[in-house]
Amino acid sequence: MTTVTAGNKVSTPAPAASTGSGDGPGPATPLLSVTDLRVRFSSRRGQVDAVDGVSFDLAPGERVALIGESGSGKSATCLAIAGFLTQPTVTVSAARLDFAGDALLGRRRPRVPVPTPGLTMVFQDAMTSLDPVWTVGSQLAAVLTAGGRRDRAEVRALATEWLVRVGLHDTRRVLGSRPYELSGGMRQRVMLALALCGRPRLLIADEPTSALDASLARDAMELLLELTQELGTALLIVSHDIKLSQEYCDRSLVMYGGRIVEEISAGGLAERARHPYTTGLLRSVPTLAGARLEELPTIAAPAGAGQADPEGGCSFRPRCARAGERCATPPPVTEPVPGHRVRCWYADVPETELGGLPVLSAGRPA
Ligand SMILES: Nc1ncnc2c1ncn2[C@@H]1O[C@H](COP(=O)(O)OP(=O)(O)OP(=O)(O)O)[C@@H](O)[C@H]1O
Ligand SMILES: [Mg+2]
Repeated sequence: MTTVTAGNKVSTPAPAASTGSGDGPGPATPLLSVTDLRVRFSSRRGQVDAVDGVSFDLAPGERVALIGESGSGKSATCLAIAGFLTQPTVTVSAARLDFAGDALLGRRRPRVPVPTPGLTMVFQDAMTSLDPVWTVGSQLAAVLTAGGRRDRAEVRALATEWLVRVGLHDTRRVLGSRPYELSGGMRQRVMLALALCGRPRLLIADEPTSALDASLARDAMELLLELTQELGTALLIVSHDIKLSQEYCDRSLVMYGGRIVEEISAGGLAERARHPYTTGLLRSVPTLAGARLEELPTIAAPAGAGQADPEGGCSFRPRCARAGERCATPPPVTEPVPGHRVRCWYADVPETELGGLPVLSAGRPA
């Protein structure tokens, strides 16, 4: 067992792209390397430490899920990495934020977001992310010509090819349409084409299918995975859905109160998860096994739960049945097996030795 100082990550060698089996440790030459990322929003009402010392690496071609409840800091993490947090009311800092060998946080802070070559991001709601004034064809052309001049016929042929790739076959109509003239599912596909036609090395997808109904969401997710795999694009995907990461990703980063509380391979999630928040999430997923109508366990939420702890203590402790006095101090990060990291004082203690307490208090959130 390795114990790592709180807030830090362990760098251990790994294959270029993990396979999803076993606990794949962090990459030897990561595509993305994040150490001690912090995001603070300030307003007249006070400050919110939305991201409170997040550290992780992502290998080329790897798929990593960022999971956590609403307000845990998932979007703020992604927006900071993608360089969208340039407003004067936001402070972004990191000991290290490198993409493809380059530092993303320069000495001078840009006033408007500056695109990072090779890195794109897609958002939850395609309607608010696509430009409502430009046609789909013009928006695709803007991305396809960003890397250098191309003649019009070539751009049109490429744009058409990308629409077909994302499953939109009525290409003439779609190219000439504005986003509001398309259905929600079509817009999401257009957004994917826009995100991937520049062949990025990393795609950050912030709940890319949550605005779609269940069957469209699954189709869009499968398309996203198929295309990123084909292009060798690494994926950082945000979700509330812990099952998604088991099914589609190599690794999961579980966030709570602005911190990563557990980092674990998809293969290890069901059997080896140790943080009480992760195990609580896993228990609250309905299954058809047994097919009996029983109330699902929930994670009780007293007022104020989910906020970063100003003293650096465990932010999950107001909801945790294990919580003891030492949880008011910063929990260490332990590494039970290489690549599996847990931020909890009790990560080494089997549940049976915790006085038979349920790991989480059941009941409806307050
Ligand atoms: N522009 C902003 N100004 C002030 N506070 C913000 C801003 N954006 C986010 N926050 C705060 O930062 C915290 C983290 O928000 P974030 O959007 O990252 O959560 P999230 O994990 O993505 O949640 P969700 O699953 O609901 O999208 C929240 O407390 C939120 O209120
Ligand atoms: Mg979000």
